[in-house]
Amino acid sequence: SKGTYDFYMLKEICEQPGVLRHLDQFYLDQNGKPKVSAAIIDALAKADKLYIFAAGTSYHAGLVGKLLFEKLTKIPTEVGFASEAGYHFPMMSQHPFFIFLSQSGETADSRVVLQEAIKRNIPSLTLTNVPESTLAREANYSMALEAGPEIAVASTKAYTAQVAVQAVIAKALGEKMGDDAAAAFKLKQNLALAAEGIEQVVSNQEKIEQLAQKDLIPSRNAFYIGRGIDYPVALEAALKLKEVSYIQTEGFAAAELKHGTISLIEKGTPVIALINDPLTADLMRGNIQEVVARGANVITIVNKSLAQTGDDIILPEVDYFLSPLVTVVVTQLLAYFAAKDKGLDVDKPRNLAKSVTVE
Ligand code: F6R
Repeated sequence: SKGTYDFYMLKEICEQPGVLRHLDQFYLDQNGKPKVSAAIIDALAKADKLYIFAAGTSYHAGLVGKLLFEKLTKIPTEVGFASEAGYHFPMMSQHPFFIFLSQSGETADSRVVLQEAIKRNIPSLTLTNVPESTLAREANYSMALEAGPEIAVASTKAYTAQVAVQAVIAKALGEKMGDDAAAAFKLKQNLALAAEGIEQVVSNQEKIEQLAQKDLIPSRNAFYIGRGIDYPVALEAALKLKEVSYIQTEGFAAAELKHGTISLIEKGTPVIALINDPLTADLMRGNIQEVVARGANVITIVNKSLAQTGDDIILPEVDYFLSPLVTVVVTQLLAYFAAKDKGLDVDKPRNLAKSVTVE
């Protein structure tokens, strides 16, 4: 049940620290060594390229996964929409390995790609929140997301679980392959930091609600911008905001705005900037100036180490590669409050179903 929460979406957002702590217990030992089946790691270690297939929010989790896999294993990783790959199969490397991300394990678009993989003898692993689901049963291997039932149509805790479990696999695989970055990656400590960080974000929800009321609700459209790891987070943040609040939102690689879309910025257009990447933080500030000069209302969501006076939401420090675990929660709450304070049915946005079993 929802307990004291108004909506399942808020309950599930608030469950995320618990999910990360549970995943730590479930997938890491006392010393932070990943506990992943040797058969899965051995099969992955034979791959010369990883292909991640998913839809919607799970696809966005896959985009973060690509960065984790490439950082910790050096295996090139491609992420695709299952719906596209099913009928326009991408070119394969010599030794491909397919990873399916699916909260429900029933997404028809992903099932089509898995059937093709089976036909071609391509090994596959499904990460899902429903261990008895079709995608879990039909893939060669499966791993549980362990997020607990997700009732709200808008996916929240399954996304963070997908990012965390991909980090576990990437670390296990990288360590097996002797990768220095994998050995040095402090996953256990950073999962703990992320859990604490999410708690801080959740305890700041009044501020987030005020921002949603002041800047988002009055607007018909909005933009999220980010660079580096914040770019895939911007895509997920935009999906979450538009699907529950009906405010048309696009996520952008920040510098791409000036290559055309900046023409849509008017007085009062909300632009939400995510800043976790030290390499591009100064460039982000420049991109913010560009939209401010056209009248945008900018909300900044910034890592503590990069914060300046006047920033709106300051994020506690977590390893860059796990920063999406915390950043995304601010954006989930912005979406939640934009929808709730508009009086919408947050848990059941119009036209949507929890699992999409048609192509
Ligand atoms: C958005 C959302 C959808 C799903 C997508 C894939 O909040 O929930 O975009 O992520 O339909 O579903 P699964 O993960 O069940 O394959």
